[in-house]
Amino acid sequence: MKELGLNPPTATSPIAITEPFLLFTVEGVKELRRDLSSRDRSEARMKAEAGNLYRPRECEALLNAVSQAAGVELVPVFDYDIAHTNVQVDAEKAKNEDIYQDLPDAEPPKQPTDPSLIDQKLPTGDINDKNAVVGDWHNDVFPWVCVLMLSDPTGMSGGETALRKGDGSFLKVRGPELGYAVVMQGGSIHHAALKQHGAGERITMVTSLRPKDPLAIDGTTLGRVKIVSDPDALFKQWTTYRMDVVSARALALKKKFVEESLSGEEIREEMKKWVDEQKKYLDFTVTEMEPWTGEDESDANRWRK
Ligand SMILES: [Fe+2]
Repeated sequence: MKELGLNPPTATSPIAITEPFLLFTVEGVKELRRDLSSRDRSEARMKAEAGNLYRPRECEALLNAVSQAAGVELVPVFDYDIAHTNVQVDAEKAKNEDIYQDLPDAEPPKQPTDPSLIDQKLPTGDINDKNAVVGDWHNDVFPWVCVLMLSDPTGMSGGETALRKGDGSFLKVRGPELGYAVVMQGGSIHHAALKQHGAGERITMVTSLRPKDPLAIDGTTLGRVKIVSDPDALFKQWTTYRMDVVSARALALKKKFVEESLSGEEIREEMKKWVDEQKKYLDFTVTEMEPWTGEDESDANRWRK
């Protein structure tokens, strides 16, 4: 964050983005792609997949690796939105082939690119040029993301992530190679995905994470997620996790009052600070469930005001 000239109030670690690190072997990538190729989106299968994801040992090993990279212990935001997959493919090819079964051949996985060799110019030279980026410049809805590459991007150009620095300029960061992941504090950094050139496929899996510690700043928002979600399931999980956080915070403060000999004035001050913080947190919990207003850019920043 310091190198980028940033000091966001929502940051929970000094790490803005990691170097790509190996997270899955080629065999692991193949398994994930096989899973994605299943056309069976039935509830039974979704449950089986969730069961797979939550096999405790694997889940713990993954979260440990990702947390270690982030410099803060992370957990999935909530079950409803553990991850999503971005798929970019050649339209003609996708018509005729099962793109997920068309397995990558880069073996063993490698991350050969020296990050210092990245050309720091945008294709058009203009940071605000809509043609240079995919979607918009934005902050992510969730505090942390883990982006895992499920394609072999060898030979492709473009497709980097551009991060907005404190002085308004930007830094281009190369995406990960097959089986590699980067962990980014995307909720606290204004960023954009740059367009990729060439016709190759690009499949990435993006996991949504938040700090495990309920006392940490929680910058989680619902943003556009609520437009494409079942509100019954989403709001139940959103509100219950937020109440868990507030409960844990209440217990922590209670413990402090019980165990430390504070003066009446100190208790009053501590309590006021705590209540003010929880009021904001709870108010935001409610306003995030209100209908989408279409305020794209400000959405991730709204709760900070
Ligand atoms: Fe993003």
